[in-house]
Amino acid sequence: MKVIVTGGAGFIGSAVVRRLVKDRHQVLNLDNLTYAGNLKSVAEVTGMSNYRYARADICSGRAVAHAINEFQPDAIMHLAAESHVDRSIEGPLIFVQTNVVGTAVLLEAAYEYWVELSDEQKQNFRFVHVSTDEVFGDLGTEGGRFTEDSPYRPSSPYAASKAASDHFARAWNLTFGLPVINTNCSNNIGPFQYPEKLVPSAIRTALVGDAIQIYGDGTNIRDWLYVDDHVSGLVLALEKGEPGKSYNFGGISECSNSDLVDLLCSHLDALKPRDDGKSYREQVKFIDDRLGHDLRYSIDSTRARKELGWSPVDTLATSVEKTLAWYLENPEWLEFSDSYGSRVGKPY
Ligand code: NAD
Ligand code: DAU
Repeated sequence: MKVIVTGGAGFIGSAVVRRLVKDRHQVLNLDNLTYAGNLKSVAEVTGMSNYRYARADICSGRAVAHAINEFQPDAIMHLAAESHVDRSIEGPLIFVQTNVVGTAVLLEAAYEYWVELSDEQKQNFRFVHVSTDEVFGDLGTEGGRFTEDSPYRPSSPYAASKAASDHFARAWNLTFGLPVINTNCSNNIGPFQYPEKLVPSAIRTALVGDAIQIYGDGTNIRDWLYVDDHVSGLVLALEKGEPGKSYNFGGISECSNSDLVDLLCSHLDALKPRDDGKSYREQVKFIDDRLGHDLRYSIDSTRARKELGWSPVDTLATSVEKTLAWYLENPEWLEFSDSYGSRVGKPY
């Protein structure tokens, strides 16, 4: 297949690109390299004959239409986004611009291209819109899991922007017939993540001797999935998913933030003991809570398991081990980098 991957220089998008290129698909990576994009994450496929990169902003209809018309894709996998909740609290409007406007611009460009295809090509075309479990809001202490039919109740500006883009993607399917598939996934863990999110941030601060900051009392629960398991789900959704449907992906690996940091610390204690012999746990500091901090997310992936034949390979334990080993081998990924653009300001 010829596949355009938007956001292919980011954490998950780069894993999608690496997988598709290795599977011998023709891939065009479309990314405008914000602070979170880094082409080193696709270094292992750069130079391969079935991989190309185009620096383009998904908010530019002209740039996106040019890339689509020139590449003539069989599918678009849309991952470009502003993805960090804390940044959406600091500055929400770029989230509206990229995640809502950018997605609508991309959908419209995809539609203009798709509508001119032959009937057979039209039927086979896919637009996979990659989204998050955060659109469903907070499970609180109620228990239960999010299914594809759960109501949308986003809490943060990030989650609201992703909820909006889910709705636009669905609207382009229902109104115009574009073969759109929505996916909603829980927290990903793995290599090549910009070090502002909990896992790489905790590893970074541990290693440099700073406070490992946990928001609030650390009881907030997230469901963790190894990034390559998410990618397998996205590829299955591309190959077997039914247009108009959405699919949830999650690891059944719920963990509180405190317990996750604890796990990271105990692995670090074993792999890279502190000079003073004390545990990295000594560096944990509970700080002011994130505004609007959702207490618990949990995903029911039954539909993806039954209809796509998807199941995750890694557990939380193996995900943490692999991720930690990778960051210890690639410590440069724990440094903030300004060199890839910084439209939303410097990291904090
Ligand atoms: P990321 O922040 O690591 O990467 C985002 C990429 O998008 C970067 O390469 C950036 O340069 C690019 N980008 C941003 N704005 C752009 C624009 N206007 N035009 C072109 N490219 C642009 O994000 P991620 O964690 O890899 O997330 C990818 C997608 O998956 C997002 O849509 C996110 O909402 C979703 N998601 C993420 C997680 C997670 O745990 N990280 C979980 C579920 C869903
Ligand atoms: O659930 C899927 C979402 O997971 C994705 O849609 C987002 O793109 C992705 O960033 C992630 O969002 P979170 O807000 O859950 O990820 P983050 O790593 O920022 O935070 C995870 C949890 O850890 C959350 O409860 C907040 C907390 N936290 C985070 C940071 C950065 C801390 O306690 N300390 C921290 O320093």
